[in-house]
Amino acid sequence: MDLTVIVPTFNEGPNVAELVRRLGAALQGREFEVVFVDDSTDDTPAIIRGVADATDFPVRLIHRDEPDAGLGGAVVEGIRAAQARWCLVMDGDLQHPPEDIPRMIDRAAVGDVDVVVASRYVAGGTAGGLAGATRTVVSRGSTLLTKAMFPRKLHGCSDPMTGFFLLDRETVDLDSLRPRGFKILLEILARRQLRVGEVPFAFATRYAGESKASLTQGIRFLTQLAMLRFGRMSAFALVGGVGAIANLVIMWGLIRLGMDYVPAAIIASEVTIIGNFLLLEYLVFADMRSESGRMRSRFVKSFVFNNIEALIRIPVLSLLVQGAHLPSVFAAGITLVAAFVVRFVFHALWVYAPKRVGAPSPQSALAQASGRTLEG
Ligand code: GDD
Ligand code: MN
Repeated sequence: MDLTVIVPTFNEGPNVAELVRRLGAALQGREFEVVFVDDSTDDTPAIIRGVADATDFPVRLIHRDEPDAGLGGAVVEGIRAAQARWCLVMDGDLQHPPEDIPRMIDRAAVGDVDVVVASRYVAGGTAGGLAGATRTVVSRGSTLLTKAMFPRKLHGCSDPMTGFFLLDRETVDLDSLRPRGFKILLEILARRQLRVGEVPFAFATRYAGESKASLTQGIRFLTQLAMLRFGRMSAFALVGGVGAIANLVIMWGLIRLGMDYVPAAIIASEVTIIGNFLLLEYLVFADMRSESGRMRSRFVKSFVFNNIEALIRIPVLSLLVQGAHLPSVFAAGITLVAAFVVRFVFHALWVYAPKRVGAPSPQSALAQASGRTLEG
């Protein structure tokens, strides 16, 4: 087997037959397999099975009943299941033309790179298929931001956000990846210095169906960047910061509505405690959830901790306001900052501690929790 083509799919039924047909034509004469890693909620799996039966090269389906880590998680699962050493990752909607794959293979065959990236942003490439000016600006802007954060690792890569690349799977440590959402290539390139080759490609328009990109994906991407660059603690700080601002805004609003500052602080705290927990679940500790028991018990721990923290914080707050005569919202800000470090340690060590036998100890959970990826 020379090549495994990995296609993550989420409700892409109408694209499957055309994609497989064009792959077959473009890769004629080569030994290859196609692996669909599917999280669909519609009839896409049945369509893939039907197409597989009618094709003379291997087309495999991995359907995930409990999808983990979205598009990126699906790609990692596909790489794990690949028969070939070289894995070609592409979208299932034909925005990545199969006809470009032979050029990518030729580039890899030169033998001096670990990954070949099909780039929209080198001479000869275009991003024409990106829907609308907003998407284009967001794509260019986030590419620049990302390259600025990893100037060395992404030096040779003009398009770390692409979902179209050819990877020597023996050069990546799959266990070190923490995929979350769409940007799996970035995750791979930021973890370890790889040798990158590029070929230009023209990002096409979708064949059928619609994009699954969303604002949530955008927020996941920002969290991923923070995690890759500064480790988990900064993502935690980001969430804490958002929570603290929400807390102060709610408190300020309630005071303006005529409420006394103490009940206002209590209500603002309860609302943000719940909101913060959800952000921690789905952004900061998403990769540790499956090993740390039940969500309900994590919520209870987090809720009790934060309420005890608030119980201590509110008398301190009134001390600062009444004793030290600080403005109430400013004083609340100080107490929120002070609570941050304690809260991080508590959550990383206790709330999200791995439960399974043989799982890493709390010490290594903290090492992992605060571990950063340094360049170089
Ligand atoms: N298995 C699985 N699980 N597949 C998914 C999921 C998921 O949760 N979400 C999306 N996909 C699949 C889609 O079915 C499609 O085959 C592919 O991933 C890309 O999704 P699109 O919805 O077509 O994304 P896009 O076109 O907006 O974004 C693409 O281009 C971006 C560049 O601007 C992706 O390739 C991005 O990774 C890329 O950054
Ligand atoms: Mn697409």
